[in-house]
Amino acid sequence: MKKILINSLKDINKSSKSDSIAFGLFDDQQDLFSNINKDSNFILSELNQSGDLSSKLGEISVIYTPNRIFKGFKYSKIFIIGLGNNNKLDNNSLRSAAGNLSRKIQTSNCNSVNFVLDSFINKESNYFELSQSFIEGFLLGSYSFNKYKSSKSSEKELYFDVTSSKINSELDISINKAIINSEAEKKARNLVNEPANIMSPSELSKFSLDLSNENLICKILDYDECKKLGMNAFLGVAQGSVEEPKLIHLSYKPNKDEKSATWYIGKAITFDSGGLSLKPSGSMLSMKGDMGGSAAVISAIEAISRLKIKTNIEVLCLATENMPSGSAQRPSDVVQAMDGTYIEVENTDAEGRLTLADAITYARKFNPKAIIDVATLTGAAGIGLGKGNISAFSNNEKLMSSVKKAGIFTGDSVWGLPLDTVSKKQNNSVIADIKNTGGRLAGSITAAHFINHFVKETPWVHLDIAANMMSASAEGWYSKGATGIPTRLLIELAYALEN
Ligand code: BES
Ligand code: MN
Ligand code: ZN
Repeated sequence: MKKILINSLKDINKSSKSDSIAFGLFDDQQDLFSNINKDSNFILSELNQSGDLSSKLGEISVIYTPNRIFKGFKYSKIFIIGLGNNNKLDNNSLRSAAGNLSRKIQTSNCNSVNFVLDSFINKESNYFELSQSFIEGFLLGSYSFNKYKSSKSSEKELYFDVTSSKINSELDISINKAIINSEAEKKARNLVNEPANIMSPSELSKFSLDLSNENLICKILDYDECKKLGMNAFLGVAQGSVEEPKLIHLSYKPNKDEKSATWYIGKAITFDSGGLSLKPSGSMLSMKGDMGGSAAVISAIEAISRLKIKTNIEVLCLATENMPSGSAQRPSDVVQAMDGTYIEVENTDAEGRLTLADAITYARKFNPKAIIDVATLTGAAGIGLGKGNISAFSNNEKLMSSVKKAGIFTGDSVWGLPLDTVSKKQNNSVIADIKNTGGRLAGSITAAHFINHFVKETPWVHLDIAANMMSASAEGWYSKGATGIPTRLLIELAYALEN
């Protein structure tokens, strides 16, 4: 991304620096692109009437206009993106279509593309939101992690060239939001895609320290400091690894006179082998991504500070590996968590909840307004709700509805599950206060009950993103690999927390 150019719709054929142009096409759209020029409008309308252009959502037609066959037309390629039913287009379908368009353009031979924003809009009142979603999808869709490819496909020097009938400060704000949101989500994807031999707890700490500035304070605690705090549930997980565990605490407090903050806590297992309750090797392959929660909260707070959203946010990640070794914690060990609770470790592979227990106790010392924890916690989340939904738990309806609402805007379906009294009993231990597993049934719910034990009365939402952290294919605004979910949701939520 080099430079943002904003052109007025009036002189679409003059000001743009691009050699290509992109339009949207709705079902049954009659009047086509009357704003370009007479010749092209005539020919394109004919093509459309003969059914050669697809208006199916997310489908792309490319029209080549060599030697500028339309009189006075400076573009040599036209991308037409189908937007489907005019009444149904929303932020998510547009963001998704834009992701497809973005991948198409990446592999096309053109220097840059002029996006005609007005052609993507179905509702005038949503002009700026939809523009934001379009640009977000476009910027996210072509993401790839090619750090370890010796021959990199040379990245295009794309201008970011948009044409709009509404050149004003509201458009500037939308474009700025889209750029910051997508940069944040891409950072989260990078952190997750980075292999675990590089992305250690120390490396994640270094990354967080590098983000810090006068408005975003970063504090790192090492093993000894965590030990002094009594974080034995956390350190029990860490004791099998040669990598030093780290506590990462980022703080953004624009409301200086307000003491408390909303805490975003991210699970930060940089590699989850299962520990002595070792995973089968196939299940380990995606476990470099077991810090996906921390990737999202860290990237989100940076974006929140860049956007200057007026709400106090703290981020906390207890980072460690979960490894088997002679010093590793054993199944059946008992550890005393920071809040005094004795935990029987029935399965060392249920490690995330152990680290979250101490994270929550640490956060509660600061009298938090609310806690949102984000964790790749249970395989059961995917069994229950699949890859298209985030499993959510809460003790506070209002907070939960804010999270859901943010998700509706950002394209993350948040689905609430119960904290029922029947499954709660599954965590009962014979010899300790609680145990870290609750059997095969209701696996995501028993994990949430365990965390709830440490949350106590604090308003809280728990997001189990185990099923959502990786995408199997490139689709819409996702690329194959890390999704960066729910970075944009957490940014959007911060706006709701402003009042
Ligand atoms: N990190 C895993 C959960 C996970 C599974 C994340 C698949 C992403 C994809 C977590 O630490 C884990 O191992 N959970 C166990 C809990 C069980 C031992 C109670 C699980 O889900 O099997
Ligand atoms: Mn595990
Ligand atoms: Zn894990």
